[in-house]
Amino acid sequence: MLTKVHTGLEPVPGIWWRPAHKAEKVWVGIAFAWCMVLFAMMPLWHYRGGQNPAGVRTRVDPKAFYARTVEFANQYKVGEDRGFPIVQPPPGADVYLVGTTFSWYPILQLQAGKEYVLHLSSADVNHGFSLFPININFQVVPGYDYALRVTPTTAGDFRIVCNEFCGIGHHTMVGRVIVVDASGSTVADNANATLQNGGAP
Ligand code: CUA
Repeated sequence: MLTKVHTGLEPVPGIWWRPAHKAEKVWVGIAFAWCMVLFAMMPLWHYRGGQNPAGVRTRVDPKAFYARTVEFANQYKVGEDRGFPIVQPPPGADVYLVGTTFSWYPILQLQAGKEYVLHLSSADVNHGFSLFPININFQVVPGYDYALRVTPTTAGDFRIVCNEFCGIGHHTMVGRVIVVDASGSTVADNANATLQNGGAP
C-alpha cells in the first residue's frame, strides 16, 4: 500500500484559499491611497515646500574654486582660529566655502538678518554640509558650485559637520560659522580665536 505524499505539484484537497476578508481589503485600500498621497507630495513639495535649494548651480573646476576661496578669505580676513582664517564679508557679498579632506575652509563670520550668496563646493571628494546645532543639510559635490541665497536668522557659533563619509579623517571634518547680531559681538565661545580688528574674543 502506497502512502500518499504531497509533493506540492497537485493541490491539497480542501479549502485552502478564501477570498480576502473585508478588513484586509480596507487596509490594502488605505495603504494604496497613502502611497498616492506621498506620490503626489513629491512634485507638490518641490514647488510649495520651499526646501529645495533655489540656488544657481554651475560647473566649476575644483582647483579654480579653491583658489577663488583662498582669494576671498585673504580679502575679508578679520582673525584666525587654529590656523584657519576667520572671514567677515560685507552683507550681500558672494561668500565662498570649500570642503576638503578633512576640513572646511575658511571660518565664516556673517551678520544675522543679512542675505549672502553662499558658494559651496568641494576640492576633492563628496562631502556633506551639516550645520549644527540646527539641522541644515546639503550635499557638497566636487565640480559644482552651489550658489545658495542664505540669510542667517540666529546669532551664534555654529559648527559644520561633514555628514558624507569621505575617508579616514571624516569624523574630524568640522568647520565653523559665526553669526553675529547687530551689536557685532563675535567669537563667542572660543578662547583660541584671535581677532585683528580689535574685537574682544
Ligand atoms: Cu568630508 Cu566626511
